[in-house]
Amino acid sequence: MSEPGPEAQDVPEADPVAGAALAADAPAALRLLREGALTLHGRLTDASNAALYCSVTLDGVTAQCVYKPVAGERPLWDFPDGTLAGREVAAYEVSAAAGWALIPPTLLREGPHGPGMVQLWVEPDPGAAPLLALQDPAGPEEGWLPIVRADVGGGRTALLVHPDDARLRRLAVLDAVLNNADRKGGHLIPAADGRIYGIDHGVTFAVPGKLRTLLWGWAGTPLPAEALDVLGRLAADLDGALGERLAPHLTRAEIAAAADRTAALLRTAEHPLPSEDWPSIPWPPI
Ligand SMILES: Nc1ncnc2c1ncn2[C@@H]1O[C@H](COP(=O)(O)OP(=O)(O)O)[C@@H](O)[C@H]1O
Ligand SMILES: [Mg+2]
Repeated sequence: MSEPGPEAQDVPEADPVAGAALAADAPAALRLLREGALTLHGRLTDASNAALYCSVTLDGVTAQCVYKPVAGERPLWDFPDGTLAGREVAAYEVSAAAGWALIPPTLLREGPHGPGMVQLWVEPDPGAAPLLALQDPAGPEEGWLPIVRADVGGGRTALLVHPDDARLRRLAVLDAVLNNADRKGGHLIPAADGRIYGIDHGVTFAVPGKLRTLLWGWAGTPLPAEALDVLGRLAADLDGALGERLAPHLTRAEIAAAADRTAALLRTAEHPLPSEDWPSIPWPPI
């Protein structure tokens, strides 16, 4: 029998409870991510952009994180400026400013492959309720909202649905501000403490509308009062301190477009509708 390689033996498993607790303590998590020693364990995907699974250790405390070096980014024609890593950090800054803590602590730093983004790893709670389901096309069932009718083979269709859940609804509002072009099921992490985190925000903040998401269940319905409050604060903040924090990562036009999207949400006071000129559903949805 062949020996497993040293890398395979050493990959530490992430603890869902410890990861959730640290994610909820942003100052501690950011300090660990900023100052800790990074150890690479391996590549997460075969995707064209390098996403590496790492540990980060400071003062005897170790957590897991993802590290995406800028050098591992493949250029995207529709995101010509800045870096995908910078967009991930910008998305975190907006989430943090919103006060909803929907994105795990994320920052830019030097790593073994040069500058990149590091983000705290939040291991999904294995016991969490599903965030997507396929139901009878006559649905949705009580407590679920429709995303799209899907062809499931054999001439049959099914309704793809997500829960009518206030946590996902906040994420839908955040994605509308971020102009997130990639909110698929695998980018939703149900944490052990009952929060839901969104991950993978490299394709955000384009100037043209590119919202591509599964969270269409509230499209065209009135925004909750809580969302209007948050959007009002974000509008002012984008014009001030938050806009300055985004400036190293985004173009002026991209920051202005984020402010315009926020203003448009406040004006219509409704969740946005899918665009007719852009594929609005990530496919495959996971
Ligand atoms: N912060 C995180 N916490 C937990 N899991 C993560 C995190 N970031 C990435 N992952 C896992 O790694 C996979 C790949 O990361 P992702 O950010 O989607 O990279 P890519 O840009 O290659 O799609 C994700 O689908 C998810 O399973
Ligand atoms: Mg991904």
